[in-house]
Amino acid sequence: MSDTKTMQHDFQQLDAAFQQAFQAQPAQHFAAPGRVNLLGEHTDYNGGFVLPCAIDRHTLAAVQVRRTPLVRVLALDYGQQLDTFRLDEPIESNEAQPWANYVRGVVQVLLARGYVLGGMDIALSGNIPQGAGLSSSASLEVLIAQCFNDLYALGISRTELALIGQQAENEFVGCMCGVMDQLISASGMAGHALMIDCRSLETRPVAIPPTLNILIIDSNKPHAHVDGEYNTRRQQCETAAAHFGMASLRDLDLTQLAGASGLDALSAKRARHVLSENARVLATAEALQRGDSAELSKQMAASHISMRDDFEITVPEIDWLVATVQDYVGERGGARMTGGGFGGCVVALLPDDALVPVQQVIMAGYEAEFGLQATFYVCQASAGVSEV
Ligand code: GLA
Repeated sequence: MSDTKTMQHDFQQLDAAFQQAFQAQPAQHFAAPGRVNLLGEHTDYNGGFVLPCAIDRHTLAAVQVRRTPLVRVLALDYGQQLDTFRLDEPIESNEAQPWANYVRGVVQVLLARGYVLGGMDIALSGNIPQGAGLSSSASLEVLIAQCFNDLYALGISRTELALIGQQAENEFVGCMCGVMDQLISASGMAGHALMIDCRSLETRPVAIPPTLNILIIDSNKPHAHVDGEYNTRRQQCETAAAHFGMASLRDLDLTQLAGASGLDALSAKRARHVLSENARVLATAEALQRGDSAELSKQMAASHISMRDDFEITVPEIDWLVATVQDYVGERGGARMTGGGFGGCVVALLPDDALVPVQQVIMAGYEAEFGLQATFYVCQASAGVSEV
C-alpha cells in the first residue's frame, strides 16, 4: 500500500476506536513524522548544527474538543489504554502508563506558558518503530501540541511547538534531550533535509538528490542505560564548555581545545567529537546540495569514527552494519550510526542499484555474527506535522 493509502486505513481504524470510546465522531486528524538524522549527533544540546529529515512514518491523532476541562486519550498501540486528566487540577505523572506522560507533559507546558485551553478527546496510533531511535516520542509531543494549537487557535509557531515538546520531555518525562527531534518533526520539508542551527534555531532546507535513497537499518540491539549514558555525555560536554568559560561548545574551536590544560581527557574527547561533528554537518550539507556522493561517503564515515572513538556511543552490532554498508557501496553512498547511540539504527544514503544488494549482504551475515535480525526501512524525506 502507498503511504497515503496506509494512512487513510489507519485513520479509519482510529475513527472507529474514537467512536467506540467517546461515543462521538472526531472533528479533525493530524499526523506528525518521526525522523532520521543524516549527520550531526549530540551537537544539538551543544548549540551546534544538525542535518535531519522527517520520514514517512507518523504518529496519528483523531481529535475533538470537549466542553469540560478534561483530556481523554486513547492509545490504540497500547492495547487501547485510556488516560484521563483534568486541566483545572495539577497534572501528575502517570506511572502506570508511561506513554501518557508525553501528552500530559505537553499539556502542562502549554498551561505553564499561559495558553488558554479547553478539554479534548484524542485517539492515537502510529507506525514509527518504537525504541529504535526514530523519535516516536518527539513526534507524539509535537502532534499533541499542534492538536491544541489548531483546535484552540493558540497561534503557536512551528519552532515554538518544538520547544514546547522539548520542555515537556526535559521537565515532565525527565530526559535531557536537545531540540533536534521535535524541531524536525514540526518543520520537516518533503524531499529535503533541514540544516538546523540549534543555537539560533534557524533552518535551511537542503534537497536530497533524487539519485540517493534513504535506507534505515534497525540493529534491533536492545538498548541498555541509554538515558543515563546520554545525560553523562551531556554533562561531559558542559564540563568542557565551562572549562573555557563558555555557555556552550559552539564558540570553541579545535585549536583552542588542543591547547587546553587542566581539562580531563574524557571531557576533551567528547568536546572534540562535537566540534568536528559541527564542521562535518556544514560540509555534508554542501555535499548533499552538490549531489557529491564521494564527499558524503567521507563525511559520514568520519562521523561514525568520531562517535565510536571520541564520543563512545556505538556498539559492535552498529559498527558491523556501518562497515558492511560502506564496504559494499564505497564512494557511491554513505553510512553511519544515527540518533542517540547504544544500539538503535544506521542511516545509509544509497544509489538505486545498491538498495537491495546491501540488504542482502546484511541478511547474509548479521544474524550469524550477532544472533539478531536487522529491520530495513526505505524512507522518503517528508513534511512536518500537519492536518490530514
Ligand atoms: C536524541 C536526542 C536528540 C539528540 C540526539 C543525538 O535523539 O533526543 O536531542 O541529542 O539524541 O544527536
